[in-house]
Order: sequence, then C-alpha cells, then structure tokens
Amino acid sequence: MTTPSVLIDCDTGIDDAVALIYLAALHREGLIDLRAVTTTAGNVDARQTAINTRYVLDLCGLPDIPVAAGEARPLVVDLVTTPETHGPTGLGYATAPKDVDKRVRSDWQALWERQLGDETRLIVTGPATNLAAYARGHRFPPGVTLMGGAYLYPGNTTPTAEWNSWVDPHAAKEAFAAATSPITVCSLGVTEQMLIDPARLATLVDALGGAPVAAILPRALRFYFEFHEAQGEGYQAQIHDLLTCMIALGRVDYEATATTVDVECDSPLLRGTTVADLRGYWARPANARLVTAADIDGAHEELLRAWATLAP
Ligand code: RIB
Ligand code: CA
Repeated sequence: MTTPSVLIDCDTGIDDAVALIYLAALHREGLIDLRAVTTTAGNVDARQTAINTRYVLDLCGLPDIPVAAGEARPLVVDLVTTPETHGPTGLGYATAPKDVDKRVRSDWQALWERQLGDETRLIVTGPATNLAAYARGHRFPPGVTLMGGAYLYPGNTTPTAEWNSWVDPHAAKEAFAAATSPITVCSLGVTEQMLIDPARLATLVDALGGAPVAAILPRALRFYFEFHEAQGEGYQAQIHDLLTCMIALGRVDYEATATTVDVECDSPLLRGTTVADLRGYWARPANARLVTAADIDGAHEELLRAWATLAP
C-alpha cells in the first residue's frame, strides 16, 4: 500500500486550520505524504490564508512543507472575505506572528505542476479559484475532492449558495465543466454534521498534550463558536474542511452518488447556487461524486486518534 501524496488548496480560516492539523498528524504518522499547501482568497485574503497555513504547519513541526499563496482574487467577481466568520486575520482571536509572512511562497502553479501526479489527492477546501485557473492551462488533475456547494439544502451565504461556491462561482462552474474525472463533492448537507463543541474541543486539546499547536485552538475556536451561536447554530462549530479531508483520504466511511453538477454565476439572486442533475435531465456526463452521507462518529474518533499522535 503506497503512501498517498496529498496537496491541499485551502483558505485557512478556522476549519481549514483544524483540517491542516489533522493532515499534519497523518503526515507525521507516515500515513500520507503532504507535498504542499496552496491557498486561495476566501475566508480572508490569499496572502493571509497562506500566512495562517504556514503558521499552523510550523506549529505542527512541519516547517519544510511548502506553502504558497494562490490567486489573489476570484476569476470574475470582486473578492469578498468573511472576517465576521473567521476573525480579522482568519484564525479567530488568534493571530500569526508578522515574520511568518517572509516564509510564504508565491509559486503556487509551479508547486501544482511539480506535485500533482496521477495518484495525488488534491483537496480543495476554499473557493475553486486556483483549480479553475490551473485547469485553463493544464490537464485537469484527477483525484480532486472539493468542499463546496449546497444541494437541495439551505445555503450558508445566500438562501441557495454555500460560501466557497458563492465567493468564486465562475471558478466552481469552470472546474466542474473542465473535470475529466469526477470531483468528489463534500457539500453543506454532509459537512454541517461535523460539529465540535467546547467539551469536544477540551478533549482534543487534552489529547494534543501540550503540542505547540494546541495553544491557538481555544482562541481560534471560541471566535467560531461565537459566530455559530450568533447564527442560531448553537455554541459549537461546523468543521466542514476536516470531514472533507477525511473523505478525500478514505479515512471515514461515506456514500456518494454519481451526478452532473453546474453552478449559477450570472443571477445576482442565485449567484453560486450549485445544482446536481440527480435525475439526468441534462444528459451530460457525470462530473461529480456527490457525497450523500458520512460516518460522523467515526470521523470524531479518527480526529481524536490522529491529533493524539501529535502529543510530545
Ligand atoms: O461553507 C463552508 C466553507 O467556507 C468552509 O471551507 C469554510 O472554511 C469556508 O471556506
Ligand atoms: Ca475553507
């Protein structure tokens, strides 16, 4: 069994950070080969998402994994970020030290060209801007798993749109249109089930046993708990990107259905609305594996197991 090589493209924010800590644990266990991390603008701007990513990986003892900031803005629409959700710099009440910026690269396409092999798992947990930009000039990478969309399910940004798809709807549309192998899609209907509350966070921080990265989690997650509470979701946090990584790597059981996805871009009211042709009206080839269910209890057990391996 070869160790899967992984590249994650994220917009580190708080749930992206939780996912990165999980990937760092798997990498240090030798269960994956985390080759590189690139970032998009979304939760905060692309440079800051890269700074946050660099900071989290350094705290996980992985200073040598390259981190590069990707495209600075969506393909067509103006950039909108969400400090109200992830905090002024994207890590809630935590902030990366200023000097981290010096160690963020900008050669994201070169990293993709070098690291994306036929067997590489590419995980996208932010807007699909880099994926679409890359696909404009390269073979579409196989083995893509993407967090995004809301399918026959309420949006979290507009009544019908999920944040990643809303931030850059043209990129999402182009990515699904360009996909030459189905994209595994983790959408709100599944990822909103992955919840961390203060009690579970306390257990996770204990399991980290003083690992340096544990120090930022209470401040990061408290901001996220407060946001979710203000949204009427309770004092807890939806950790969308973590579940997406576990599904991408087959670390939890899940169910998926083959379908064709398209994205609305031009309607101001319906911008970023994702549609799955579940009854085959369009007679177009499937470009997605839409995840319909996942083992959430198993995901929590896997998170605790993996994070405990980071304890010094
Ligand atoms: O809608 C949830 C998604 O938007 C997550 O990836 C979160 O990090 C934000 O990027
Ligand atoms: Ca994200």
